[in-house]
Amino acid sequence: MTGRYWESTLPGAGRRAPRADAVSDAAVRSLNGVWRFRLSPTAAGTGDGFFATEFDDTDWDAMRVPSHWVLEEFTPLAGGPARRMLGTEEGPLYTNTAYPIPLDPPYVSTENPTGDYRLVFEVPDDFGAAVLRFQGVDSCAKVWLNGEELGWSTGSRLPFEFDAPVRAGRNVLAVRVHRWSAGTYLEDQDMWWLPGIFRDVELLARPAGAIDDHFVHADYDPVSGVGTLRVDASVDAVVEIPELGISMPTGQTVAFPVEPWSADTPRLYRGTLSAAGESVELAIGFRRVEIVDGVFVVNGSPLTFRGVNRHEHHPDTGRTLDRETMIQDIVMMKRANIDSVRTSHYPPHPEFLRLCDEYGLWVVLEVDLETHGFIYEGWEHNPPALPEWREAIMDRLHRTVERDKNHPSIVVWSLANESMSGDGFTEMRRWLDERDPSRVVLYERDPSYRDSDFYSLMYPSLELLESIGRREEPRGGKLSMHGMVFDGPDEPLPAGVTEAEEERRRGLPFLLVEYAHAMGNGPGGLQDYWRVLRSYDRLCGGFVWEWIDHGINAVDAEGRAFILQSEDIDYEPRGGRFSLDGLVLSDRTPKPALAELAKAHEVIDIEVGERVRIANERHAADTSDLRFRWSVEADGRSVADGLLDVPTIARGERVEIAIPDAAASALRATDAVLTVEATLAAETLWAPEGHVIAWAQKIAAPVEDAVRRTGNPAGATSRDGDVIRVGEASFDAATGRLLGLGDLQIDGPWIDLYRAPTENDRGQGDNNNLAAVWHATGLHRLLHRVDDVGLDGERLVVRGRTAPRTHPHGVTWTMTWVPDGDGVRLETSVDFVGPWADTPYKHRDIWVPRVGLRFALPTAADRVAWFGRGPEETYVDSVQGARVGRFARTIDSVQTPYPIPQENGNHTQTRWLDVSGEEMATLHVDGDPFDFTARRWTSEQLEQARRPSDLVAGDRVWLNIDHRQQGIGSASVGPALPEQYRVPREHTVWSVRLSVG
Ligand code: GAL
Repeated sequence: MTGRYWESTLPGAGRRAPRADAVSDAAVRSLNGVWRFRLSPTAAGTGDGFFATEFDDTDWDAMRVPSHWVLEEFTPLAGGPARRMLGTEEGPLYTNTAYPIPLDPPYVSTENPTGDYRLVFEVPDDFGAAVLRFQGVDSCAKVWLNGEELGWSTGSRLPFEFDAPVRAGRNVLAVRVHRWSAGTYLEDQDMWWLPGIFRDVELLARPAGAIDDHFVHADYDPVSGVGTLRVDASVDAVVEIPELGISMPTGQTVAFPVEPWSADTPRLYRGTLSAAGESVELAIGFRRVEIVDGVFVVNGSPLTFRGVNRHEHHPDTGRTLDRETMIQDIVMMKRANIDSVRTSHYPPHPEFLRLCDEYGLWVVLEVDLETHGFIYEGWEHNPPALPEWREAIMDRLHRTVERDKNHPSIVVWSLANESMSGDGFTEMRRWLDERDPSRVVLYERDPSYRDSDFYSLMYPSLELLESIGRREEPRGGKLSMHGMVFDGPDEPLPAGVTEAEEERRRGLPFLLVEYAHAMGNGPGGLQDYWRVLRSYDRLCGGFVWEWIDHGINAVDAEGRAFILQSEDIDYEPRGGRFSLDGLVLSDRTPKPALAELAKAHEVIDIEVGERVRIANERHAADTSDLRFRWSVEADGRSVADGLLDVPTIARGERVEIAIPDAAASALRATDAVLTVEATLAAETLWAPEGHVIAWAQKIAAPVEDAVRRTGNPAGATSRDGDVIRVGEASFDAATGRLLGLGDLQIDGPWIDLYRAPTENDRGQGDNNNLAAVWHATGLHRLLHRVDDVGLDGERLVVRGRTAPRTHPHGVTWTMTWVPDGDGVRLETSVDFVGPWADTPYKHRDIWVPRVGLRFALPTAADRVAWFGRGPEETYVDSVQGARVGRFARTIDSVQTPYPIPQENGNHTQTRWLDVSGEEMATLHVDGDPFDFTARRWTSEQLEQARRPSDLVAGDRVWLNIDHRQQGIGSASVGPALPEQYRVPREHTVWSVRLSVG
């Protein structure tokens, strides 16, 4: 149909050729600011008149540019007062894999919210020839200047430019933006659909003799240490690098010794490229990227990405980010030992890449291309496989590479995300080989990997990863939603994959493009992945999914702030809660998992045993920028510290040194811990002096607490009517439940087998959804029965059974209370009884999330102090990033405020715990190392809450002292939780000691 450009498979019309992004001395007029805006329900917009110079837009809305209109406050389609459209179909929509329009390429629905934008701006007399640049418009824009059509474009996260015949004085720019277009079919990334002019709009002066394009070729020879430089440009120009004494014409090659660029040592040589009409800045990094014998090598040594997948997100402005936010991301990443970013799933704002060059982050730059939703028709009509889409796909590649080709930080081009196979990829690859042989190419989803320099998978299990590391992975594989999976050692080759391709694939390095799904509480298991990733040269690291939650700041009907996610929107198809799966919350508050990742990523490996062993596993740098410190904390107080005399360690080297005498003697005190830290000796761009980049601890053997244990008074156990006393503890003689401990009111304990499911407990597929199994098994509604309460000498023995309704299974238990010095010792024994298989999950082994004890304390309880791991929450598979020490917190502050309430705030490997409050005796717990949680609501209330504001303090404080709680894993999109982190249904006995002080 003529004229319906938004439904054309072509990428645009009237645009200038793509070219390098550059910081120039030519005049730039930012057109960011407040524009006029009117939203219409169809692609017809407000009609044909709006681009006329004299069109009257005085009653139109004000609209910030850049922004996504769905996140701004303005008059909605239906009229009425200005408002944000959150929660409605007109507002931000989130889908994971599905298209928000009927799958009928290249057409879209007639319902196609369309924003007409107008801006009147002044141009000075001497501005001269100009170009109008849009850095990003979602999803399709047509542009008029002074009433004349300039052209149109799709490709939301890519720039486009028009020659702009501006006149001196008043000019009128009109832009029509369609929410849906043929481009939508190429942009089915798992994220919010956020239309609008969301990146900068600029008017660039183009004086005669301006540099339209330039390409820096900067190679580094790791053997000789020589850098080779050539700069090509669209016009004759002069390359000047003052610190190297270089002044040479474009097209000429020079060689000289240089310091290479790496994320560790982001050495940039700054200079200028000057032509008659313009001078642009150069920030040159020398480096060489290669695949050598199946290993990914940069500057001569294997490179391991310690990476995250980063979407652009801000909870108020969506994918419109300011520079401060970009810097904040980079600084937080660098401080967490993250050294690389995959720009999932599109090129970021160009400023981010300038910052990566400067701060030092390796970048895998992904083209704005995903067609995941074609999975719903078996990949028929998949655009990369069809010639009619070829121009649009190549246009996306050209615009990506041409814009970003000069960034040393970019070492890999990623062709797309989750778009299956097609000749389009081969054509992309061929073009890249010609245009930019200095980098390597990644494409994960095509099972032949014919266009990729890497073998790559998402979310493999540890076992599979290890077999890939050994180059012994299974053949072939089957395609699933998240890529290839393997049921056995020898799958047939997927359709279309030849033996030769399979053979080639087996020789490729392996890049873990996504792993460790950080949804809600999690991910767990990071240390395990890094143990494997460090062990094999074939494995070149991985990228956690993902950096940040994409929640949107919103306010509920009662005026309470909350984080809006897909389920808050009256719309289908919803993408579930997969927008909340970052290592940092939507407002960039780090989740505890970030510290765990920082630990797993450490490149200075410290081990404190009889001696201190330090290994430098950095890619490029030695340790001359670091200072090593030791300190001993005893009984919660720092008792001694000092500097450790460590020689400079070259990369790949290790040293061993003695523990200083002062440290060794201080280590003999109660609860003593020796900590050795590698810290920055001087401030850097991204962290202050003293910032800790690696640490390790040695914990003194437990010292018996002599004060608390005085011998057992004779006759400590007695019965007095309805009350039984065991030392300081009194019990209801009928129920065997605690009535008090000294002056402390305490109720319980009850056997606890449940936890409020985490997002990662809700694994995908029948086999992986532990939360569903727990529900089917009835663990979320347990009933308790006491069978027997009796005295046996000094011991009180209580026997009972805890079980769900309806089912024959449950646990029988015995609690044995014994006086123990000034306290009472409780030995608990649990046996699983019944078939445990009368559920829809018969075929599966059933595990419980916890085996422990639940106590109720008065609401006066408001502080916890403990010795163990902390201060953040820890779980059995997410604990190494937390130090051992003595910590004190309020009960309210040991809750991690996940936007979807779920299990949180556990502390594993606890050696002792005090729970205290005003006007309340302090409860002291010690015994076998235990897990504890303390909260003002039960696990069941935690599970039922939809939002944090639903969690209200009750009339008790609920304290869990558990033998064991299961780990976290990342099964929400990933392999099942490894068995070693589960809680088996087996005979279990453990003991804790309670006293009051
Ligand atoms: C991957 C995909 C990501 C995200 C993730 C799950 O398959 O590439 O965009 O959807 O799964 O959160």
